[in-house]
Amino acid sequence: MKYSTILLAAGKGSRTNLDYNKVFYHLDTERTVLDTSLSLFLKDPDCTQIIIVCAPYELDEVEALYARYPQVEFAQGGETRQDSVYNGLKKVREDHVFIHDAARPFLKPYLIDQLKKTLEIEDACLLMIPSTDTVKIVEGGYVVKTLTRDQVYRAQTPQCFKTALIRKCHEKAVAARKLATDDAQLVEWYGKTPIRIVYGDEENTKITLPSDLSNL
Ligand code: CTP
Ligand code: MG
Repeated sequence: MKYSTILLAAGKGSRTNLDYNKVFYHLDTERTVLDTSLSLFLKDPDCTQIIIVCAPYELDEVEALYARYPQVEFAQGGETRQDSVYNGLKKVREDHVFIHDAARPFLKPYLIDQLKKTLEIEDACLLMIPSTDTVKIVEGGYVVKTLTRDQVYRAQTPQCFKTALIRKCHEKAVAARKLATDDAQLVEWYGKTPIRIVYGDEENTKITLPSDLSNL
């Protein structure tokens, strides 16, 4: 199944405490976080278009790095991750789209394959991991409720959709000025479509905190 990928790199990475955007962090002498996540999709012949979304002030630098790849295009990020996805979506050409955080460079190709297979029969799917911790709802410093643990999962990316569906959901969110925590939540709100889970991998972590860098 052919698909487009939106690769999100337009954040600031402020929680890593680096003095630059974490997607430019070098995982080894050769490759940065962004190089590594991009290469996963460059290797997949079904991925005909990769839209790297980056901050306006980093656009020239990122274009210079990757302009040699014919399937790679660029879009300007926005204030929030949701704005960045929305900007990327405007450029998507395929009927199906993968939305992936560039800050998750350890995604494995077998998961891309499973997501593609799932997207052949479902309109929306994402990688999820069952929570091993007990999760509680807290208000004002007091526990309100404990969630049933076998129903609690952690969402990862890629999150994958029929392009028309996720576009419509993003447009409704813009009209309603609503901000979701991820793209799947927009489908929960506006999609009326089941969202299929694909079991993710613990190694597909998002580089977020200083400890994520020191544990590499
Ligand atoms: N992202 C984006 N546009 C934004 C904010 C985030 O494209 N306005 C991207 C980030 O580059 C990252 C992914 O979305 O690849 C996940 O977001 P997060 O982990 O929160 O990254 P940052 O926003 O960069 O980090 P922080 O919140 O610590 O500043
Ligand atoms: Mg952020």
